[in-house]
Amino acid sequence: MSLMNKVVLITGAGAGIGRATALAFARAGARLALVDIDEEAGQETARLVQNAGSAGLFMRADVTQAVEVAQMVQATVAHFGRLDCAFNNAGIEGPPTRTADVAEAEFDRIMAVNLKGVWLCMKYEIQQMIAQGGGVIANTASVAGLVGAHSMPAYAASKHGVIGLTKTAAVEYARKNIRVNAVCPAVIRTAMVERALEVMPQLAEGMIAANPSRRLGEPAEVAAAVLWLCSDAASFVNGAALTIDGGLTAQ
Ligand SMILES: NC(=O)c1ccc[n+]([C@@H]2O[C@H](COP(=O)([O-])OP(=O)(O)OC[C@H]3O[C@@H](n4cnc5c(N)ncnc54)[C@H](O)[C@@H]3O)[C@@H](O)[C@H]2O)c1
Repeated sequence: MSLMNKVVLITGAGAGIGRATALAFARAGARLALVDIDEEAGQETARLVQNAGSAGLFMRADVTQAVEVAQMVQATVAHFGRLDCAFNNAGIEGPPTRTADVAEAEFDRIMAVNLKGVWLCMKYEIQQMIAQGGGVIANTASVAGLVGAHSMPAYAASKHGVIGLTKTAAVEYARKNIRVNAVCPAVIRTAMVERALEVMPQLAEGMIAANPSRRLGEPAEVAAAVLWLCSDAASFVNGAALTIDGGLTAQ
């Protein structure tokens, strides 16, 4: 499963799953283009990647902005010469609100980052991958892309959409030597989850009890799956929505 010297672009690389995946790729010898809207957090990930002995280039970009996304891909190729793998992972959750109570602006904001952001990233990444003869993309969906998520209507809709985009691009570009897959984590212990637990502390117990594994997931467990999907070990895996959920959606 060699990822040595591969050029990997990661969005949402400043925290949580994105940072853990950046470090796992760095330890595997990959070179990293690290993207986040949060400059300080992204720079810190770049430092951690460099400390792990790999090249880490931070670029600030907002995945909802086409110009910035196009520039992020251009800058990656200008710096590293190509783009082998992309992990489109930046996402936001929004406050828990039932479907009938979500403000229109909040719905639009979540869709813009989680769904349009993934499409914009794929658009420019795929153009580069076609030009260079192939590549691999992994998108971060969620178990909320497979089943409903109480009080997270826009989030669930956006993640269902990510799986739709993933399967469509997988079908469209398989013959161009490009594979596109999604990961669908259940609750993973990151800042995103800590924020939700601050609002509803009783949630953690319920989430743990609901999972057959009786625990939350760790960012490194998502990272390991992304590395596998991006490696040649997964050479015939295309259009998959891979659950990393301790068995939650198998019940
Ligand atoms: N933590 C979980 O339980 C969980 C479960 C399933 C899926 N996910 C998904 O995993 C991904 C990462 O989540 P996390 O838990 O690591 O979250 P996190 O909040 O810890 O990290 C997300 C990162 O994305 C960045 N970001 C946000 N908006 C951005 C934008 N417009 N452009 C560029 N960067 C932006 C943030 O600055 C942050 O560094 C998200 O797509 C999330 O929906 C998380």
